[in-house]
Amino acid sequence: MNDIPGELVERLRDCRRLVIFTGAGVSAESGIPTFRDAQTGLWAKYSPEQLASPEGFRQEPQTVWDWYAWRRERCLAVQPNPAHRAIAELQRRLPHATLITQNVDGLHQRAGSASALELHGNIHRLKCFRCGENSGAWPDDCSAPPLHSCGGLLRPAVVWFGENLDHEVLEAAWRAAEEADLFFSIGTSSLVYPAADLPFLAQRNGCYVVEVNPQPTPLSAHANLCLNGAAGVVMPAVVAALG
Ligand code: OAD
Repeated sequence: MNDIPGELVERLRDCRRLVIFTGAGVSAESGIPTFRDAQTGLWAKYSPEQLASPEGFRQEPQTVWDWYAWRRERCLAVQPNPAHRAIAELQRRLPHATLITQNVDGLHQRAGSASALELHGNIHRLKCFRCGENSGAWPDDCSAPPLHSCGGLLRPAVVWFGENLDHEVLEAAWRAAEEADLFFSIGTSSLVYPAADLPFLAQRNGCYVVEVNPQPTPLSAHANLCLNGAAGVVMPAVVAALG
C-alpha cells in the first residue's frame, strides 16, 4: 500500500490542526497482542473482565497483578515499529498535531513522540487501588502488588472495565477532535466508547477523516478516505509522500 492520494498530501500540507488517533493495531507489528488476543495460553481461562476490572482485582489481586506484570514485560521486550516512528515524524513536522492513543504500552513515546494523550492510561505506571494517588513506576521486585502509604494495594494505572476515563485527558481529546481539520484513525476497531466517538465528533465539525486499517470497521463507511493496509506500511508512505 504505497499509493497515497495527492489530495491527502495536499490536505496534510495545508492542515491547521491534525489529530492522530491510534489503537492496538499500531502496536501489532511490534508483536504486542491486541487486548483480546492476549488471553491465550496461561490466561485463556480468565475473561477480560476478570483480568481488567476493579471487581477482578478486589477478588484476585495477585492474578491480576501477574497478568499485568506479564503484559508489561512483553511491552518492554518489543521495539516501536515503522508506524510509531512515522507518527512521531508527523508530529515533528506538523506543529499542530495531537496524538491521542488508546494504547497503554508506551511505544509511541519510545518512538520519539514527545506528547500523547493516553486515553486508557499507561501500563508502566502505578496508582493506588484505594485512594487513587499516582505512584510512579513499578518496583524492581514485581512478584506481588506493593502497598501504598495509605495501606491500599498498588495497581497498574490503566483504565479498567467499568471505570471512567481520566476527565482531563478526555476533555483534551474532545477539544483536539473538535478543532481538527484532518483526523487519522489508525489501527483501532472503533468499537470501544467513548474513544470511538472522536472521529465522528471531528467529522461533525467539518473535519476530513482518514482511516488506516487492513480490516473494515464501523468507521469505514463514514470515513472520507480508507487506506486499507498495515499501519507500518501506510504511515511511512504518508510521511514519504509529504516529501
Ligand atoms: P482492537 O483490538 O479492538 O482492534 C485492533 C484493530 O487494529 C482492528 O481493527 C484490526 O483490524 C487493526 N489492525 C490489526 N493489525 C493492524 C495493522 N498492522 N495496522 C493497522 N491496523 C491493524 O483494539 P482497539 O481498537 O485499540 O481498552 O481497542 C480499544 C480498546 O479495547 C483498548 O484500548 C482496550 C480494549 O478493551 C482498555 O483497555 C480500556
